[in-house]
Amino acid sequence: MKMKKILILFVLTFTMFACSSDGGGNGLDPGPVPIPTAVQASFVYTISTTDSHVLILDNTTEGEEFVSYWDYGLGGGNVNDGPGIEEVRYDTPGNYTIKLIVIKDGLTSTATKTIKVDESGICPNALCGGGSSDSLKSAATTFSVGMITRASWINGGGQHTATLVKEFNNLTSEYEIKMNVMHPSQGNFDFSAGDVIVDFAQANNMNVHGHVLIWHNATPSWVENFAGTDAEFEAMVENYITTTINHFKGKVRSWDVVNEAFEDGTGHPLRNSVFRQKMGDDYIKKCFQFARNADPNALLFYNDYNVASSPTKRAAIFTLVDNLGSLIDGVGAQMHISYNGPSAANIQAVADGTVSRGKKLHFSELDIRANPNNDLTSLTSVRADLQAAKFKEVVKIYNSIPLENKFALTTWGLRDNESWLLDFWGVPDWPLMFDENYNKKPAYYGFLEGLQ
Ligand code: G3I
Repeated sequence: MKMKKILILFVLTFTMFACSSDGGGNGLDPGPVPIPTAVQASFVYTISTTDSHVLILDNTTEGEEFVSYWDYGLGGGNVNDGPGIEEVRYDTPGNYTIKLIVIKDGLTSTATKTIKVDESGICPNALCGGGSSDSLKSAATTFSVGMITRASWINGGGQHTATLVKEFNNLTSEYEIKMNVMHPSQGNFDFSAGDVIVDFAQANNMNVHGHVLIWHNATPSWVENFAGTDAEFEAMVENYITTTINHFKGKVRSWDVVNEAFEDGTGHPLRNSVFRQKMGDDYIKKCFQFARNADPNALLFYNDYNVASSPTKRAAIFTLVDNLGSLIDGVGAQMHISYNGPSAANIQAVADGTVSRGKKLHFSELDIRANPNNDLTSLTSVRADLQAAKFKEVVKIYNSIPLENKFALTTWGLRDNESWLLDFWGVPDWPLMFDENYNKKPAYYGFLEGLQ
């Protein structure tokens, strides 16, 4: 049996070399091996619930008649991929790159994922931390704790960046990775502000969530008034998505491909955005396909608000998720909520609907209004505690979803005085975890309590 395995491995290795080399022996590089559309390598993993040093791997490649083998990142070469799952032990702390190599009709497709191992075992979602509560990110060991930022705040440094680095491990650009900023005129791209954020994240071992490729509220006027044909419009959108994702590839692990596509009114029809007008009702699927083609390894999300507070909008969103199928990896529920609603049951329904579809969940823009009825002129300790209780409730619901559905919980602002809500509603409010002097509020401790 052993000899047979080695023989299989030799043939596989030779086959891979043959198709990835020039093939014709002319020394010219034919370029990357095209991934066969019928078969793309993919796999999922989970950490053993009985031994945190054991990883359970499952090859989820779809397609007929292919051969496949693993590289567990432990050295010693590739091993055959047998039927069913594989269990692999990682005892030494470090970073490991796991590869699944799939060969069909002489063409090779490879899926790659990395894991981190510390003394306590494999770190969930590559987030290591002993569960200590000296920071939000070290307490939240099974998902990323996100925060928004701006290039000007990164460049300003000080307590903003110090707090980002201490407390968070996932960043979202509040407004500078949006079409109106990145694609200001036809044929021109400006990623400079996004690069400031992404470079800072890279330097501080933080992930970046790309928010957002397509949003009716961040569409440049030249796009709104596009002068070409519908076909030219669609080609422009594909080029924009492809160019943007390629620019940030390897640094931005996930994208909100489309944001807020549904109206809030009866039946939640699709907004009649310029994208829908010029690309058709299936513009969302087209944009997800463009994004998938640009970076097959990026996680692709649909993002929207009132997902918890509106069961009918939630249903419309989940129908979209079902229609997108394998093109979508996750749901972004913005979670712009209040201390007194929506209910825990409605928030739980967002988690349940996402988990039941096998998708990742991103609570993507959490802020919790303390003054939704404008009955306060300053934050009372009573209201601050009620707000803290709501933070705890939201975090507890998020932290209770299965590991494979976890992604990140992002708060939409660091200090109360920086919140978009102040201008939006025009009344005093204190919706975040830090006050204007970067002091932790009860809301911060509510977040931590939600992790207990
Ligand atoms: O910082 C510049 C300033 O230098 C300049 O003088 C000024 C006038 O041009 O603009 C300032 O930038 C503004 C930025 O907010 C910071 O205040 C942008 O113009 C403005 O468009 C931007 O608004 C953002 C908005 O999305 C539109 O992109 C808000 O910050 C941001 O909180 C908001 O976030 C959205 C999410 O993306 C989607 N969900 C809803 C959420 C709230 O609307």
